Amino acid sequence: MKKIVALAILILWSIGAWANNTDFMPMPEKITFQEGNFRLDANFKMAVQGSAHPRLYDAATRALHRLAGRSGLFFPQDVITPQTPAEGARFLVYCQKAGRVELGENESYEIVVTPQKVELSCITDLGGLRGLETLLQLLRADENGYYFPVVTIQDKPRFPWRGLMIDVCRHWMPMEVIKRNLDGMAAVKMNVLHLHLSEDQGFRVESKVFPKLHQLGSDGHYFTQEQIREILAYADARGIRVIPEFDMPGHTTAWFVGHPELASAPGPYTIERRWGVMDPTMDPTKESTYAFLDKFLGEMAKLFPDPYLHIGGDENNGKQWNQNAAIQAFMKKKNIPDNHALQAYFNNRILKILTKHGKKMVGWDEILHPDMPKTIMIQSWRGPKFLVESARKGYTGILSNGYYIDLIQPASFHYLNDPVPADSALTDAEKARIMGGEATSWAELVTPETVDSRIWPRTAAIAERLWSPANVRDVEDMYRRMEIISFQLEEHGLTHIKNYEMMLRRLTANQDIRPLKNLVDVIEPVKIYQRHSQGVKYFSHSPYTRAVDAARPESMTARWVAKTVEAFLQDPAQANAETIMACLNKWRDNHAQLQQTMIKSPVIRELESLSQDLSDLAAAGLKAMDALLAEQKLDAGWRYEQQAVIERAKKPRGQAELMIIPAVVKLMDAASTE
Ligand code: ACM
Repeated sequence: MKKIVALAILILWSIGAWANNTDFMPMPEKITFQEGNFRLDANFKMAVQGSAHPRLYDAATRALHRLAGRSGLFFPQDVITPQTPAEGARFLVYCQKAGRVELGENESYEIVVTPQKVELSCITDLGGLRGLETLLQLLRADENGYYFPVVTIQDKPRFPWRGLMIDVCRHWMPMEVIKRNLDGMAAVKMNVLHLHLSEDQGFRVESKVFPKLHQLGSDGHYFTQEQIREILAYADARGIRVIPEFDMPGHTTAWFVGHPELASAPGPYTIERRWGVMDPTMDPTKESTYAFLDKFLGEMAKLFPDPYLHIGGDENNGKQWNQNAAIQAFMKKKNIPDNHALQAYFNNRILKILTKHGKKMVGWDEILHPDMPKTIMIQSWRGPKFLVESARKGYTGILSNGYYIDLIQPASFHYLNDPVPADSALTDAEKARIMGGEATSWAELVTPETVDSRIWPRTAAIAERLWSPANVRDVEDMYRRMEIISFQLEEHGLTHIKNYEMMLRRLTANQDIRPLKNLVDVIEPVKIYQRHSQGVKYFSHSPYTRAVDAARPESMTARWVAKTVEAFLQDPAQANAETIMACLNKWRDNHAQLQQTMIKSPVIRELESLSQDLSDLAAAGLKAMDALLAEQKLDAGWRYEQQAVIERAKKPRGQAELMIIPAVVKLMDAASTE
């Protein structure tokens, strides 16, 4: 009996240990760990069998090089090709058929790791690509070297449309930004890159039919058609579709620099340098507008192979339409009651053009109108209700509301935002019209230097929401895994971690960055669109190099401190006190050092009072800790006096705010009498 109990304990213990090994993101659907490991050594070989698309051989080769890169092992293989023999390979990929990089393609896979071999089976090579990423996340190390734990994994996506939209217009995002983000997307199994290619601030793709579009509308910053083909090939190799967006009829100033005849008010126009919703709008009443768009969209339909093309459709303020007598007369004559109906008329004309060129229409949720047929797809951004309404009315849709990563919200917020929440009142048929979602990287406040830090790692949490089963919702575990995946994402050249200290070095002009880092580690940029309403007027050419730009959207230090304080207050006997004291001491003393740094770094002086407030707050926190550790109470008068310190500290400075205030306030409250 004792033996059985001991065995049961051992089994439970080992299951616990294996269960801890789930450092995946997105979390696969089904994972069964067993005892044992597959050890990587310098004889490790891979092979691909079956009928695979060439992209699977390339992906296997990349995976092999990544395993070598991480382990430092000198594998005997260079490239994996159809000629690579299965004999002697200890990692075999079995693929039934070549997949197509299009909506709804089978992306399922199965992994079986035994101590002798690793097998990855897939229906299409797209499943193979997803499975290779899972295997790279499975790699572990111990005192004996690198290994894959023995495991069986069965996996498939919950939603077929798992996207990232990159705005390359507000700030120009060159090739390398796109490529490294495609690699990041592939690592977390995302499969749609939505390129926002035209805006008031820039027209970003070469048109051979209307070259004035990019020549006059881009400041020279645009993708040539050759570069677009390079992006398409790079994305296709990673099983990622590319959806181009040409936003119309609003957000079109940059078109009108070369083609003012398209506009609803006479020109001339210049490229917009401000942010916001602008008036310039295409004239939907002129046949010449449609003749132009027929030629232009025909050209783009040939360039971009995906069946879907995005026409934007958002934020048409209607001002130019209201002020144009000919447009008003047109509406009267055609019995068009309002601007939304006029936009639906425009959209229906565009739909005919797209259909002629073999494309389906996607647009932001403003394109939802009773006059539009059910063949269009709705991208909900103003609220989830538009997604629900679309699904009820028979339209397919994707969710972006709640995935606006430019709004600087925490990963947990995006993570729990579900395209089909558990309490959804939709019928099964309506739910089936919801194809997934897209994170949106709008680029008013980001440059190629900071864009990765706004996309990653939070987009990995969105990727998991869109891939993993709906019941994978443990926020703490998500944060644990997201930090691990965040480091792995750097492997692709993503700059979300490394640019941080580089920016701090520039801000401190060759001085020790530590005092600045201590402060910036615990601040976040102000949320939503508050940066535009705090007395700083931003333009496209403004500097995006300040402390607020270096600061990460979510301070992991502040999150960790909040958790440590919570644990300490629940059980002060735990050893957390020392780490809390160390932080508070560091922050209290930091200001004097940062003031020295500021002498030669005027650019960071905008944070001087915030740094002082952090110091004052930390001093109060230390007093609270001393009282708590001595099991004494500070009187209510002390706590009352600290309120002024807290209120001062809460005020954003340099469009950034201190994130450790709630944790310190908890200590103060716990330490003082009511
Ligand atoms: C949008 O954010 N205007 C689609």
